[in-house]
Amino acid sequence: MRRVLIVGATSPLARYMAHEFAKQGDALFLAARDEDELERVASDMRIRFGATVHTGLFDAAAIETHEAFWQQVLQAMDGLDGVVWVAGSMDGLEEAFRDPRAVRRLIDVNFTGAASLLTLAACYFEQQGSGFIAGVSSVAGDRGRGQNYPYGAAKGGLSLFLQGLRNRLSKKGVQVTTIKPGFIDTRMTWGRDKLPFLASPQRVAQESVQAILRGKDIAYVPAVWWLVMLVIRAIPERVFKRMNI
Ligand SMILES: NC(=O)c1ccc[n+]([C@@H]2O[C@H](COP(=O)([O-])OP(=O)(O)OC[C@H]3O[C@@H](n4cnc5c(N)ncnc54)[C@H](OP(=O)(O)O)[C@@H]3O)[C@@H](O)[C@H]2O)c1
Repeated sequence: MRRVLIVGATSPLARYMAHEFAKQGDALFLAARDEDELERVASDMRIRFGATVHTGLFDAAAIETHEAFWQQVLQAMDGLDGVVWVAGSMDGLEEAFRDPRAVRRLIDVNFTGAASLLTLAACYFEQQGSGFIAGVSSVAGDRGRGQNYPYGAAKGGLSLFLQGLRNRLSKKGVQVTTIKPGFIDTRMTWGRDKLPFLASPQRVAQESVQAILRGKDIAYVPAVWWLVMLVIRAIPERVFKRMNI
């Protein structure tokens, strides 16, 4: 039995990831901002899997609250074995192209908040000499694109942060996994037509948890995105800057 914190637990991807852990008998702490929805997700999991599930409010952007939140989780779970960061948002993307406050909000939720909480997790697991950290980044973080770079830059920052944590912690018995999904069929992509390789949150969740449990460093999910991004990253900048993708 592992004790796992899932942040951003009201998202469809996180819910299905929580199912995968609960099926294996793991105890969970689910965190996000929407208290009612969190309680709904938790009771569903208690009924479905007989799982031990705690919940707590967490706002990625409220960095000053993160230490107290972290202590709350450790106390409720009597220690921790893993943290899965799934929280993320593209809300305010249009505004972020022009408004400095909007771009800051996007970066706070997708990068600074993650870096803050995962710093606490890193120190805890480092001292414990065991544990895992998994972060859901995005293929959007692999190359800056005109259509989403404020979000992509934050995800790119998160990927680098996780890479650095992996470099620091792998010598200390702590595993760090970076999950890079392509398009997932969730609220974030609703209304956008003809997205290539659009995958269900169930599938992405299953493959993501598999990658974590197998101790992978970086997992593109579905795996086809590894090849897609290899090609996209290989396009010379002088060509890429003229493309509208
Ligand atoms: N959908 C895609 O195509 C796609 C592709 C690549 C990567 N991703 C990433 O996959 C993850 C899940 O995305 P999704 O598509 O399932 O999106 P979603 O349904 O919009 O879920 C986003 C989650 O993040 C939480 N969240 C948002 N702002 C937060 C904040 N300030 N503090 C704490 N939690 C916050 C939300 O919970 P509350 O609102 O309750 O706080 C929710 O649980 C995200 O990191 C996203 O960037 C998605």
